[in-house]
Formats: sequence, structure tokens, C-alpha cells
Amino acid sequence: MDWGIKNRLSRIINPKTGHTVMLAVDHGYFLGPTSGLEKPDKTIEPLVPYADTLMLTRGVLRTSVKPDMDIPIVLRVSGGTSILSELSNEGITTSMEEAIRLNVSGIALSIFVGAEYERQTLLGLSNLVNEAEKYGIPVLAVTAVGKDMVRDSRYLGLASRIAAELGAHFVKTYYCDDFEQVVDNCPVPIVIAGGKKLPEPEALELAHNAISKGAVGVDMGRNIFQSEHPVAMIQAVRSIVHENATVKEALDLYNSVKAGKD
Ligand code: 5RP
Repeated sequence: MDWGIKNRLSRIINPKTGHTVMLAVDHGYFLGPTSGLEKPDKTIEPLVPYADTLMLTRGVLRTSVKPDMDIPIVLRVSGGTSILSELSNEGITTSMEEAIRLNVSGIALSIFVGAEYERQTLLGLSNLVNEAEKYGIPVLAVTAVGKDMVRDSRYLGLASRIAAELGAHFVKTYYCDDFEQVVDNCPVPIVIAGGKKLPEPEALELAHNAISKGAVGVDMGRNIFQSEHPVAMIQAVRSIVHENATVKEALDLYNSVKAGKD
């Protein structure tokens, strides 16, 4: 792998622990004003000290992240659809020049395996990798799940493997039963999305299970910023990802930060 790609990846995945806490705040690109993200700057600022990376669109980056904030960026460069339309009909929204101008550490796009526009999104990934490799920028493929897809290890394993085969440098997918098979069959690092908001103990258990079964980290959004105590929650997730904390230890940390004891 190219030196530039390795260097940028090492800003996303901490080389000391081999793990990463990515904070996903890109939801508005197809969901509009998502609950908890109505004012992205207010949501993002207190969480930045505990995140390794922010995943977002250029619009939120420009408007809601101060340029002197010390946080690597994974820029979402796909979109063009909304929750009201056929989600798989995504294209590339943001040029490579823009990504370089914004000094990002990585770029991300969604692929929709098994959906109506599967081919378009997979060729989009391949073309993006061709371009990104010219400039040493790692590509994160997000295995988005179409409306009729089951989130099981067979389907997520298929989508993750295809993403890696087409050149993605790392993959974002969902946790599922037999998750270790998804990891084993994917030759590049995997991070998991959190999905819909769960009670905090369940979200921490999800993160713990994913890390124990081989994920290098989380790219979590709603289970952090929709928590009643987002700053406590991101610290608890971080303790699992980077410090090998048990679910109980992470929950104790969540409760003590929430109570103002930490
Ligand atoms: C959508 C995304 C989102 O960033 C994402 O799903 C992660 O956030 P959450 O933890 O809320 O699921 O990539 O395709």
C-alpha cells in the first residue's frame, strides 16, 4: 500500500491500539435535519476530544467544524438521494480536488449490494479508488443496506468482501450474528455502524461484541449523539474500543461521567 494511504489511515485507525472511534455525523445527507444533529456544530464540538475521526459531508465540515479543530476527517463523497426516493441511486457528489483542498484523511461512499442501482454504486467505488490512489487517500466503503435486505452475515459478508475486492481500504458495515465470519472473509479492516438508537447498555454491548469479534472500531452516530448524555456515551464507547473495557466497566464510566464524577 502506498505511503500516503498508510499515513492517512494511521490518522484514522490509531496505530498504538489498532482501533478507532469514528464519530458519524453525515446523516443529514439523505435524512435532512436528523434528531440530535439539528445544529451540527453544537453536537460535534463537545464530542471531538473523544473521537479519532469525524465522518461528515463537506457542507457540515465547512459550516460546523472549525478549521483549527484537531480532528482527522473522513469525508462522505456520495449522495444525491433522500429518504423519500430510491436510496441506492447514489452518485459521487464531491470531487477529489475538493477532498484534497479540505485536507481530509479519507473519503467515504455507500455501496448498495443487491439493490436496484448496485452496479452504479460498485463502479462508483471502483472509480473512486482509482482516483483516490493517485493522491494517496484511503477509501471507506459503507455497505448500506437497501430496504429489502436482511442484515445477516451472509449478506453483510458478501457486501464487505465485494467492497474490499474492488479496492476499498476499509469497510463500514453492521454488526450481526456470526460477525466473525464477516471479518474473516474481508481482507481489509472493518468498522461498524451503530444503527438506530438503542438503550445505552445495549449499544455498549454491540460495540463490545463487534470489537471482540474483530472489528477495528466503530463509526457510530445516533447511539452517541442521540444519547441523553452524548459526552458520557462517547467516552464509554472509547473505553471499549481503545482500552478493552468490559460492558460493565464502560457502563460504570457512562454513569459516572453522567453524574459529573469523572
Ligand atoms: C449512512 C451512514 C451513517 O454515517 C451511519 O449509518 C452511521 O451512523 P449510525 O451509527 O447512526 O448508524 O454511513 O449510510
